[in-house]
Amino acid sequence: MNEILEKKKLAYGVHLFWIKNELIAKKAKPGQFVIFRTHDSGERIPITIAGVNNNKFRVIVKAVGKSTYELCKLQPGDKIADISGPLGMPSEIKFYGKVLVVGGGVGIATIIPIVQALISSGNDVDVILASRSREFFFLTDEFENAKNVYYVTDDGSFGDKGFAHEKMDKLLKEKQYDIAWAIGPALMMKACSEVAKKNNLKIWVSLNAIMVDGTGMCGGCRVLINNEMKYTCVDGPEFDGRLVNWDSFMIRLSQYREEEKLALERYLEKVGEPTWL
Ligand SMILES: Cc1cc2nc3c(=O)[nH]c(=O)nc-3n(C[C@H](O)[C@H](O)[C@H](O)COP(=O)(O)OP(=O)(O)OC[C@H]3O[C@@H](n4cnc5c(N)ncnc54)[C@H](O)[C@@H]3O)c2cc1C
Ligand code: FES
Repeated sequence: MNEILEKKKLAYGVHLFWIKNELIAKKAKPGQFVIFRTHDSGERIPITIAGVNNNKFRVIVKAVGKSTYELCKLQPGDKIADISGPLGMPSEIKFYGKVLVVGGGVGIATIIPIVQALISSGNDVDVILASRSREFFFLTDEFENAKNVYYVTDDGSFGDKGFAHEKMDKLLKEKQYDIAWAIGPALMMKACSEVAKKNNLKIWVSLNAIMVDGTGMCGGCRVLINNEMKYTCVDGPEFDGRLVNWDSFMIRLSQYREEEKLALERYLEKVGEPTWL
């Protein structure tokens, strides 16, 4: 249980892991996540389940701070100390008709199971994949059953130059969609939600709130949805992006920035150059 069976580097600082855990593999549904504690004195971090296969499940992790650096240092044969999951409400998968799904950065991993399930439910799915530049796209062959896949990069090195929400705005002028998803950095989800609101289109976003227990016990992950307080870990992580109070969400996301910076600096002093990223 919890053994890393396979690890693959997808881009600088972005790693794929297949982890042995029969229960999670059996129960996980698209949109759900797990909470890892990498080792006994580690913190708990939420990571999306990006696929299952028999007795194992897959995650794709982007190294952004101490805990994700530690996780990305692990190798096949190593074990994750604790894994809780599957957690959160699954995505609302059913037949809608025409669906637009946007994935940005490591959010590309999160949308894979959602896109595949929407296609299996008979939907026509168009996908926008967005990243900083060409080398940060990964697992793009897993979108081969989508109707159309559009690529967008910040620097124009692949596909259209620009941001995901700009491509979304363009597409919505040409085509009709029944519903949308946008998963990626908070700023991207906020911008896509504004485009969807302008076009009267329902849009699901998956909020990457700071979590501790992940089971509804602490309120650390609380967010304001339509002025009502919700817990991201049990009521979400997916919410209608048009109803999210993005300003309060982003302030809460950066509340430990100083401590996080310090923790990473101390860690790097101890381990040296992170050559494994
Ligand atoms: C439901 C959910 C699913 C997620 N899925 C993935 C995934 O599939 N792959 C992936 O790489 N990342 C995912 N994340 C984000 C991941 O949890 C954070 O990157 C990680 O916790 C950062 O920890 P750190 O110590 O490495 O970095 P830190 O130095 O602690 O933080 C770096 C930045 O990450 C954010 N962050 C910090 N702590 C958390 C936390 N507990 N939860 C969320 N964000 C945090 C903050 O904005 C912070 O500024 C997900 C988050 C949530 C809530
Ligand atoms: S993480 Fe504690 S309630 Fe959601």
